[in-house]
Amino acid sequence: MEIFADTSDITEITKWLRRGVLDGVTTNPSIMLRDGVRDIEKTVREIADALDGRPLSVEVTTNELDDMLAEARAFATWAPNIVAKIPIITEDGVPCLEVIHALSREGIRINATAILSFNQVMMAAKAGATYLSIFAGRVADEGHDPARLIRLAAQWVERWSYGKILVGSIRGNLDVQRAAAAGAHAITVPPTILETVLDHKNSRATVREFNASAKLAPN
Ligand code: E4P
Repeated sequence: MEIFADTSDITEITKWLRRGVLDGVTTNPSIMLRDGVRDIEKTVREIADALDGRPLSVEVTTNELDDMLAEARAFATWAPNIVAKIPIITEDGVPCLEVIHALSREGIRINATAILSFNQVMMAAKAGATYLSIFAGRVADEGHDPARLIRLAAQWVERWSYGKILVGSIRGNLDVQRAAAAGAHAITVPPTILETVLDHKNSRATVREFNASAKLAPN
């Protein structure tokens, strides 16, 4: 299973690369806004370079299908490890499947994003997406169980040899565990949550106890 960082913060990305657990990065326009990114191309090139071949998802910023194609093609020229993030439908409900299909036929890897249902997973997979991004937190916001959707979707793609289930919209520690246990092929996690996944007060206490013992031991 792959772990991605859901961020455009290069300091966090290099930290988690150093720790050896990072398989890639996902971004979106809201993340870039929050991280204060001004020059998108410069930031994307810098992250792509740091990732050294690992995938970096960059999302299109338009509601027009032709403009999505042009934007994604431009992203793909910035670095070979860029994955174009294309929404499953536009904000008006127009399917983006033809964009996913055309780009994937050109050899540009696609992360089909904003997926909230099993049927959307199937459609994006059929169109050629490599990553199928289920937004767990937003599924739960609507009162549905993301773990059940992740499990069914992972079983379906494995059965028919389609893309990978990438779980995003992670809101807390338990979401990571639930997505992994449900069979996600990849989970993208904000760095703040990666820290909480790792921490445990009793681990700290255990290490503190051992360090104290070591200081008391005769030389
Ligand atoms: C995933 O690729 C998205 O960038 C992200 O996880 C969306 O999460 P949100 O629901 O917190 O916006």
